[in-house]
Amino acid sequence: MKQARAIANINIALLKYWGKFDEINVLPTTTSISFVLDRFYTITTISILPNLKQDVLIINNQLASMDDHQKITSFLDRFDRHDYVQVVSENHVPIKAGLASSASAYASIATAAKKVFNTHWTLSELASITRFGSGSAARSMFDGFVKWNAYSDCIEQIHAPMLDIGMFVVLVDANPKKISSREAMAITKQTSWNYDVWVKKSVQQALDMEAAIMNQDFHVIGQLSQQNALGMHTTMMAADPPIIYLSSESMRIIHELLHLQDQGVALYFTMDAGPNIKILIQDQDREIIESLLHQFIDPLNLMYSKPGKKARIIHE
Ligand code: DP6
Repeated sequence: MKQARAIANINIALLKYWGKFDEINVLPTTTSISFVLDRFYTITTISILPNLKQDVLIINNQLASMDDHQKITSFLDRFDRHDYVQVVSENHVPIKAGLASSASAYASIATAAKKVFNTHWTLSELASITRFGSGSAARSMFDGFVKWNAYSDCIEQIHAPMLDIGMFVVLVDANPKKISSREAMAITKQTSWNYDVWVKKSVQQALDMEAAIMNQDFHVIGQLSQQNALGMHTTMMAADPPIIYLSSESMRIIHELLHLQDQGVALYFTMDAGPNIKILIQDQDREIIESLLHQFIDPLNLMYSKPGKKARIIHE
């Protein structure tokens, strides 16, 4: 029996990927920049077992749905493989968080698959293939700040030191989202009147973000990230039909955070394809900001994470 086990963390985009210029080749319309969070991850074990007549996929102790089975199997077919496999994947992303686990899932599958199928790809080539599982997963393949250029299949680490930052994840809603990010971004791109404006704006934001990362300028990083995320949500709201992931509870929290910002508290927020809010802070401010957040967020719904590491093979 041949086996490989890999771990990968989720990543949060400071500048978002929201829309494909080329759906078949998964080429994004915007440059996205992210970093991984150490607290939330997926561990995947892939085994080549004798006598398998088809792939067996087990996610969180259950057989994968038909849809997931089909997606993961065709993703594995991108590797030069000659065997069926058993894939066992455990998400350590709280179900309630509604955080995108597809990024950590596909990044861990790709890392384990490379090892078990003995594929001779560089990390860059592997990251590029990973985007076919889920675009954002490709960014979980690197340490530090990671950039995926618009119109490109190239995902790379930005060579700058990591800042001493952290992120609070606010768990707002337990319900599964009504529409997947894949579908929602396609509708937005096709129908939203301000989508092109957001894409155009993001060109300058990407240049400014990279410069801010090089300059270690936390405030510019935070401001750009917040503007970009709010802008992305306006493109969805302007779509037909409108897509509104933010709930009234998300909006309540956003107003409170803006109020803290007005008072000079150094925090910035971002949201993805769901109602949860992620709050970027400098790690040195953790205690004081946590106590401020507790005034309007139930401590049980608040989780803190530091930046994590790239997807990797583990031996345990
Ligand atoms: C809002 O990576 O889930 O999280 O490539 O279609 O699988 P597919 O989309 P996915 O989209 C992520 C969207 C986002 C922003 C981001 O992570 O950049």
